[in-house]
Amino acid sequence: MGNEDHELAARLAVVRERVEQVLAELAEVRDRQALAAAREAGLGEDSPLVELSRSLGSLDPARRPEVGKAVAEARRRLETAIRAARERLERAERAERLVAERSDPSVGLLGSLLEGPGARHLVARARMELEDVFWRLGFEVASGPEVEDEWYNFEALNVPAHHPARAAQDSFYLELAAPTPLLLRTHTSPAQLRLMQRGQLPIYAVVPGRVYRRDTPDARHTPAFHQLEALVVDAGITFAHLKGTIEAFTSAYFGPSIQARLRPAYFPFTEPSAEFEVTCTICRGTGCRTCSGTGWIELGGAGMVHEHVLRAGGLDPEAVSGFAFGFGIDRLVQMRYAIPDMRILPENDLRVLLQTRSAS
Ligand code: PHE
Repeated sequence: MGNEDHELAARLAVVRERVEQVLAELAEVRDRQALAAAREAGLGEDSPLVELSRSLGSLDPARRPEVGKAVAEARRRLETAIRAARERLERAERAERLVAERSDPSVGLLGSLLEGPGARHLVARARMELEDVFWRLGFEVASGPEVEDEWYNFEALNVPAHHPARAAQDSFYLELAAPTPLLLRTHTSPAQLRLMQRGQLPIYAVVPGRVYRRDTPDARHTPAFHQLEALVVDAGITFAHLKGTIEAFTSAYFGPSIQARLRPAYFPFTEPSAEFEVTCTICRGTGCRTCSGTGWIELGGAGMVHEHVLRAGGLDPEAVSGFAFGFGIDRLVQMRYAIPDMRILPENDLRVLLQTRSAS
């Protein structure tokens, strides 16, 4: 072996040693600086490996392929180890970031709001209170489907085919093409038919529930809202019973200082029909903006059940009579709590919901 060979063997040994050392460091690196330093030591401009590969051209041509192969092999091992170390660091950084960013919902603003008991929604509360009032008056609480066909929602309620209320722009139709088109009930009155169809008399029932209309949302309208329907069918039921029941329920719900009154109106399914109003809860009857200065607020519709409806429900108008009334629960809530815009009711903003927490 000549001098040159000795020197080359020594350089290869240095390269090998450095490569092994750098590989060992790479397996341990914990941060980007250490990774950069290891990389520099292994593959930097001044590293033994790069110096050797730079001088390949001046080597004995006979040794060049062997040395070139060793250099390429060492470079490949280093690069693979560097890539692995980088990926390991990135994974660790990501995990650290996730831990740092993790927020504990039991602390902070939302957390402090959510401490303590939950709150019932104002509409749910009103519904329960109303159910309670009617239950104490001797009514049962029943329910009906929200998807009805035209017969229950209109036809049987004496709403003729050409009536504007049946137009698709007012109602949410689900299957217009079906033999009996299905729609979301536009009021709770179809429940009247379902109560009659049970074939049990007398009927003293209320049906609270959700109803749907294609109304553009504004301060006094939302496309989904709640109504409560009351139906009484018995022998000898008169308009006086209707009036007495409305007075009993309004004073039980609003308190004795609130009066109720009936005004003539028209509904296809009642005859005679009335609108019922209560003393404005905002001004207590003296007149304000909410009641347009009248001192009264319209609450709902009422009347004696039309004989066509009794017949459609399978009952004999000669033998029994009945009254019905219906009103919007959301409107009631709006009045009772002086809520300026009805749209806040379905929005479920926690700041609104939690105001009633202590009261529920
Ligand atoms: N269903 C009517 C409405 O939604 C209210 C009503 C119910 C009227 C019962 C009379 C009798 O406007």
